[in-house]
Amino acid sequence: MRLILLGAPGAGKGTQAQYITEKFGIPQISTGDMLRAAVKAQTPLGIEAKQVMDAGGLVSDDIIIGLVKERIAEDDCASGFLFDGFPRTIPQAQAMVEEGVSIDHVVEIAVDDEEIVSRMSGRRVHPGSGRVYHVIHNPPKTEGEDDETGEALVQRDDDQEETVRKRLEIYHEQTSPLVDFYQDMTGSDAPAYHRIEGVGSVEQIRDRVFDELG
Ligand code: AP5
Ligand code: ZN
Repeated sequence: MRLILLGAPGAGKGTQAQYITEKFGIPQISTGDMLRAAVKAQTPLGIEAKQVMDAGGLVSDDIIIGLVKERIAEDDCASGFLFDGFPRTIPQAQAMVEEGVSIDHVVEIAVDDEEIVSRMSGRRVHPGSGRVYHVIHNPPKTEGEDDETGEALVQRDDDQEETVRKRLEIYHEQTSPLVDFYQDMTGSDAPAYHRIEGVGSVEQIRDRVFDELG
């Protein structure tokens, strides 16, 4: 099964990805996590990407498309995968169509901008695994520590309010056109499109997603 999780920054894609990948036994492909790993390793890509990410911008389509093509050619993607944060522009979506990568389901998690700004300030992440927490809505078992490893949780560099607002602006300009792109697709390769109301508890949203996916 091949799935796309679509939604604004902070809509809950990473949070729901953890449930979906577990249920369907498919890997999560988060371009954001891949870029953050490159930043941490200080590769040439990471050094270039860090500036763009900290400013709330998008890394170039060519770089992202190259990364994703390499990733989906790996063995663990043979029976499917979940895209989280990709595609994010029409050219990225078109690149997958040109590659013959058909998608079974697009799940859009809809959350309005003000809710997102307030969520981001409480986000904490485990850099090693990408696991996501929230100090109030989804707290770890021990404050400041990852549930599985006990390692320290951190705040993301791009979670300051000003950067979040910039990321939302770019989402509305460059990513939200994908809603129509996928809904207007026709033919046997067209994905099923599901719009989920993304406000509610993490478990409520998970149940809505599972209901839609059957
Ligand atoms: P990326 O890492 O993909 O960031 P994003 O899309 O902006 O999304 P986030 O990870 O911020 O949010 P999320 O939807 O995963 O929400 P989460 O589950 O964490 O990308 C980062 C950057 O990399 C981009 O800005 C760009 O520069 C670059 N990049 C990445 N992909 C790219 C691409 N394809 N092309 C070009 N550039 C690219 O939840 C957020 C918080 O809310 C958490 O604290 C969580 O615990 C909490 N929460 C979750 N659900 C709920 C709920 N139901 N109620 C209350 N709180 C909740
Ligand atoms: Zn994420």
